[in-house]
Amino acid sequence: IPVEPFDLVVFGATGDLARRKILPGLYRRFWAGQVTADSRIIGAARAALTEDAFRADVKAAIDEFVSADKRDAAMIDAFLARLHYVPIDAVGEAGWKPLKDMMRPGVVRAFYFSVAPALFGDLAQRLHSHGIADTGSRIVVEKPFGRDLASARALNAVLAQHFREDQIYRIDHYLGKETVQNLMAVRFANILFEPLWKSEYVDHVQITVAETVGVDGRGAYYDKSGAMRDMVQNHMMQLLCLIAMEPPYHFDPAAVRDEKLKVIRALDPVAPDDIVRGQYLAGAGQDSYVTHSQNPASRTESYIALKVHVSNWRWKGTPFYLRTGKRLRARESEIVVTFREPPHSIFDDTEGWRENVLVIRLQPNEGINLKVMIKEPGPGGMRLTQVPLDMSFAEALGEEGADIPDAYERLIMDVIRGNQTLFMRGDEVEAAWAWTDPIIQGWEARGDRPRGYDPGSSGPEDALMLMHRDGRRWREIR
Ligand code: BG6
Repeated sequence: IPVEPFDLVVFGATGDLARRKILPGLYRRFWAGQVTADSRIIGAARAALTEDAFRADVKAAIDEFVSADKRDAAMIDAFLARLHYVPIDAVGEAGWKPLKDMMRPGVVRAFYFSVAPALFGDLAQRLHSHGIADTGSRIVVEKPFGRDLASARALNAVLAQHFREDQIYRIDHYLGKETVQNLMAVRFANILFEPLWKSEYVDHVQITVAETVGVDGRGAYYDKSGAMRDMVQNHMMQLLCLIAMEPPYHFDPAAVRDEKLKVIRALDPVAPDDIVRGQYLAGAGQDSYVTHSQNPASRTESYIALKVHVSNWRWKGTPFYLRTGKRLRARESEIVVTFREPPHSIFDDTEGWRENVLVIRLQPNEGINLKVMIKEPGPGGMRLTQVPLDMSFAEALGEEGADIPDAYERLIMDVIRGNQTLFMRGDEVEAAWAWTDPIIQGWEARGDRPRGYDPGSSGPEDALMLMHRDGRRWREIR
């Protein structure tokens, strides 16, 4: 379904995110017919580019990041004709008048701040003082949204001077992923799971986001951030919320975000013993974290595992184990819900006995795997064995399942539609930092150092212990 015509201004249009995700994503939506020919994309950045040079750059980005089956020459030309460019100074007055003159009345106006957060305030203020933003305009802001509670509050305050909360779209691209949204469908569109979705029946939950990439090239940013700020405070927190939240009364922005916020507020502080941080070592011809970060004394973690408690009626007694890291064995994100054993066994042979496990694979090979007990075939009596009920979304849905839009494309279309459900509200971000801050301050005060781990492994040994000592184990990263 096509979205309304729009003027989307991308600040930071020559930057990495715009090149890799935003502009190729908009092209794909144009190719799919969702962005119509009466919409325009206006690149804005410091570089004194001509419009033709900008179009040539975007063409190169499409060639690099869009799959060949969608790269049709006539289609690309038609898309490039929708592009404009304005050199602009975020901290000065140059370029703002030409930008204002470009805006059209009567179409959706959106401004994507794909720039350093330090510039958010300048952009918001100038959009306002030059009369470019109107009361219906939307702004889109990227992570990192602050690096602690104080800075997130300051960012919220500076945006709030010029925009209402319902105009502000804070991106967490995990919420744009197909399978992350599927989490809500699985939970709230089926009656099967919800009655069991509580500590009475769920032994524990594991959330893993494992990556094979290192921080090569992003060392300067990453070293000031680390896995806790880069992944846990935002993406992992969102996954945790979608798993742990109460059913919202409706799938709308206020209802969904209210329920997520309650989960974040219910998180207990995390004890030092329940945190394991790691840093990848050199190996297999690859450099170590400290080489990538160019900081030999760095104590920043490229891996973190945490045991987290959601202190509310539903989850008391069911720990959530989170882990994420770089340079691990495989790129694999999944959520594993392990159920408790049945209260009583009528079978004598319980040798093959295992708990039911629901695995929700987020990437790659998105799908669901439910492990159930059955009778082992054959005449050997009532012997039990566990088998998977396995479904990959791509197989189940055929072509439709194979051609899933990238998270950014979907989220940008939601901005144009004015749907904030999959964006973070200001209070949600602040609550997430309020939980994160003392954890980071704690290890800084104790002077903890991250443990080294081998590249291609599943993280530091101590992270295994985090579960072993509770009589549990991580699902293997394969
Ligand atoms: C980003 C982080 O937000 O998410 C990166 O800054 C990380 O460090 C990336 O690699 C992971 O996203 P995805 O979509 O590849 O799982």
